[in-house]
Amino acid sequence: MLITIPNVLDQQRLDFVTQTLEKAKFVDGKLSAGMAAKRVKNNEELSADDQQMQQLNNIVMGSLVQHEEFKAAALPLRVAAPFYARYSKGMTYGDHVDDPIMGNPGQQYRTDVSTTVFLNEPEDYEGGELVINTSFGEQKIKLAAGSAVVYPSGSLHHVAEVTKGTRLVAVTWTQSMVREPAKRELLYNLNLARESLLKNRPDDNETKKIDVTYINLFRMWAEL
Ligand code: NI
Repeated sequence: MLITIPNVLDQQRLDFVTQTLEKAKFVDGKLSAGMAAKRVKNNEELSADDQQMQQLNNIVMGSLVQHEEFKAAALPLRVAAPFYARYSKGMTYGDHVDDPIMGNPGQQYRTDVSTTVFLNEPEDYEGGELVINTSFGEQKIKLAAGSAVVYPSGSLHHVAEVTKGTRLVAVTWTQSMVREPAKRELLYNLNLARESLLKNRPDDNETKKIDVTYINLFRMWAEL
């Protein structure tokens, strides 16, 4: 399941993030890449020792983990600190799947869900689509500033070459309480039906059945 979430960051937060990144130091993205990714990764990332990294993370991660749509789609157990990536003209990130395990020893997590938060407007650059292989073919994603795309980390994906302007994104990974994408998708859809029933027909017997089924299915599949 691939879902897009509008307005993860409101304008005020977005302005702060982009203004901070404008002044920040970026380094070669290959420095944080694994062996296979090094060959295809050609971008820049915010330097890990940046003084304002923590503040940026609080804003970007804070907004994401509090977002109802993100919570329902990712069922997050752990959310990693984001990377801030910049692609200027000629930059690209070739086909790859994200590393299965990330984080420092002792703080490792499995990557189940990948998230890209777009930080500048699609009109600011040409090319630079996030192209994700799904079972229904390729999906090309280029969203408004502040919006996010959430997809299974096991999907093959790439970032098309930026041919004009600059593309700015935050990317992060989530270990989900439900590791299998197909199960997460069932829970996501069942929850949509459940929420609509709870709102519109709170006293119906069917509503209670769907509610109890969702809760117990989640319990059955959840791993902590
Ligand atoms: Ni990736």
